[in-house]
Amino acid sequence: MGGGIAVSVVLAGRPVRLIEGSPELVATAEERVRASLGRAAGRRDRADEVDALQELLTFSTDHDPTGVELVIEAVPEDAALKQKIFSELEAIYGAETIFASNTSSLSITEIASALEHQGRFIGMHFFNPVPASALVEIVVGANTSDATTRRVGELSELQGLTPIVVQDSPGFASSRLGLTLGLEAIRMVESGVASVEDIDAAMTLGYKHPIGPLKLTDLVGLDVRLAIAEHLASTLGKRFEPPQLMRDMVSAGKLGKKSGEGFYEW
Ligand SMILES: NC(=O)c1ccc[n+]([C@@H]2O[C@H](COP(=O)([O-])OP(=O)(O)OC[C@H]3O[C@@H](n4cnc5c(N)ncnc54)[C@H](O)[C@@H]3O)[C@@H](O)[C@H]2O)c1
Repeated sequence: MGGGIAVSVVLAGRPVRLIEGSPELVATAEERVRASLGRAAGRRDRADEVDALQELLTFSTDHDPTGVELVIEAVPEDAALKQKIFSELEAIYGAETIFASNTSSLSITEIASALEHQGRFIGMHFFNPVPASALVEIVVGANTSDATTRRVGELSELQGLTPIVVQDSPGFASSRLGLTLGLEAIRMVESGVASVEDIDAAMTLGYKHPIGPLKLTDLVGLDVRLAIAEHLASTLGKRFEPPQLMRDMVSAGKLGKKSGEGFYEW
């Protein structure tokens, strides 16, 4: 997600510094994200701009706070990890830099509780693949300032995205609704109601969804969706309890597109 967010911001003409945890991870990310930027520019008939766009991207293990207006975090879905990282960032960036988390489901207010300046903290929930998506869900925590919400809305629009503003609540609007459909589709596979393809077709052809709930689960990652389901089950109740089939597939390493197999072969 971090790479997709970076490509989308660069396509809007803004510089991005992408931070990874080690030189090896930086090298892998650089290769992947530069290739993705090249493809995205090509699809938009902007191949002649690729060199200039590539120059807007830098990769590093280290932060450089100079002139940075917004930091977007996209580390794994773990509240304690996110809190630790934002505490470290607060020691690096000035109080006027806005901090956003790309969390799909965790409490923005809870992550922010580790910070001294909580007014600058907000959720920016992007959608996969970010350069092809139209929406960003802006999640307002209990202590997020109006100025932060307004500015993040403006920056989202500059990025070519339509922001929706949602108050901090488990799963926000999109993950809560999306998971409801995704988990029910997995329960239907589990109990043999229909094939994977037919369950997806029920939604794509019947309800005009651009993608079926099982293919979408493959794209997001079964591990990512399992973590969200566990969080929603513990906050909103048993209706979000992950199906056993989902747990078994994650244990077997069938994570979806990223592992080569999920409900589909990739
Ligand atoms: N996958 C999706 O479709 C999707 C959509 C919206 C939001 N999100 C959210 O985005 C976040 C990232 O999800 P993802 O699917 O990109 O995950 P991912 O596992 O693909 O990427 C996680 C990134 O964090 C880095 N990382 C891992 N452990 C770290 C640590 N201890 N310290 C610092 N960096 C570390 C990894 O190197 C990697 O770059 C999660 O909060 C997830 O819920 C994911």
